[in-house]
Amino acid sequence: MTTPAAETSEETPVGRSAGTSWVLRRVRPLGGDPVDVVLADGVVAAWRPAGSTHAGAGGLPAGTTVLDTDGLILLPGLVDLHTHLREPGREDAETVASGTRAAALGGYTTVFAMANTNPVADTAGVVEQVWRLGLDAGHCDVRPVGAVTVGLAGERLAELGAMASSAAGVRVFSDDGHCVSDALLMRRALEYVKAFDGVIAQHAQEPRLTENAQMNEGTVAARLGLPGWPAVAEEAIIARDALLAGHVGSRLHVCHVSTAGSVEIIRWAKAKGWNVTAEVTPHHLLLTDDLVCSFDPVYKVNPPLRTAEDVAALRAGLADGTIDCVATDHAPHALEDKETEWAAARPGMLGLETALSVVIETMVIPGRLDWAGVAERMALAPARIGGLPRTAAEVWSSIAVGAPATVTLLDPAPWRMVEPDALASRSRNTPYAGRSLPGTIRATFLRGRPTVLDGKIV
Ligand code: DOR
Repeated sequence: MTTPAAETSEETPVGRSAGTSWVLRRVRPLGGDPVDVVLADGVVAAWRPAGSTHAGAGGLPAGTTVLDTDGLILLPGLVDLHTHLREPGREDAETVASGTRAAALGGYTTVFAMANTNPVADTAGVVEQVWRLGLDAGHCDVRPVGAVTVGLAGERLAELGAMASSAAGVRVFSDDGHCVSDALLMRRALEYVKAFDGVIAQHAQEPRLTENAQMNEGTVAARLGLPGWPAVAEEAIIARDALLAGHVGSRLHVCHVSTAGSVEIIRWAKAKGWNVTAEVTPHHLLLTDDLVCSFDPVYKVNPPLRTAEDVAALRAGLADGTIDCVATDHAPHALEDKETEWAAARPGMLGLETALSVVIETMVIPGRLDWAGVAERMALAPARIGGLPRTAAEVWSSIAVGAPATVTLLDPAPWRMVEPDALASRSRNTPYAGRSLPGTIRATFLRGRPTVLDGKIV
């Protein structure tokens, strides 16, 4: 793909020909030594010596397309545990089709679609609708997240069992955007999902401690005169829920961890042997609360951007596995909901098309994660937490022969300027506009079928 070459070789420039089998020539699986990787019948069919395969070579299925992928890194298809696709209800901000296009361009092959739609995804009917919209769009797998409580109101449990046994096969339940703040309801939800190995993904925000909160509580908030969102409001809920998960022997997943104290509590809960997992967003790995001084609502997000000390602890926690995975919290918002005064603006940032680049900048370039670590934190761990089929999750780690050809090809070298108008999302609320980020997704394959070639949707 780097040197598609009319005159140099028999290789096919990416995008010009659509075979059902593909050779990734001189690709570097998990950043290792180059090999030729054959994708056929939806799986990784063979590894061959680097550069040995050319169009018309023996042993290749008819119609094989050879891609020059020299220097590109082959990763398992990325899995996002935390995406807002906004359909049904806010199709002006995002649709399943536009959001999954953004996902594929970002290297994702599965996204978990959050339940805070309108109507809320709190019944088998709505989760099946979202799941079918994902199938129709075809850009990546869509796994709907079911709401924990009816209407996200935090008062009574939604039909968790019905959503689990629906065609959508829901395993992750979350009121994200809202905290399940009632301890008894949280306990009941944790108990209930054990029956089908589900997980409760908690948006940890003690509501009374965050009433009217506008940004991280701290010196910047004091200077700007904005009401603060204290770290303890997150940490208190995580500590409570970790204790509950340990008590009932169930699975808790903590959404968008944002403070150093939260990392410590999760480390403690894991040391206790409790089944607690956690995610961090790309923006909490890179950005800090002093950006709020601009009063640009693009930096308004929930949980809020925190301090440099928090960012350092989050990076360390992701590196040592205390934080299991990166999840985007891709939160598209229409212009009128974002381009307004700070207090009225909705919280949330786009993330799907820039997540891997931010992880490269904050974790790979400084040597905190290697490419196998990126695969673990952005594909394998979220697949495990989200209950994706075990066979697929296991083989993804190695991109071994027989693994589903659900992979992404990354050119790690170039830095590119983020241009909001060039994004596939229907919304424009990226906090990285005009900023240079490293790495470009060149291709994404879903079970052997390209969804992105040459950086463009197929
Ligand atoms: O900033 C956020 N936006 N945080 C959330 O938890 C919800 C999300 C949204 O839905 O916009």
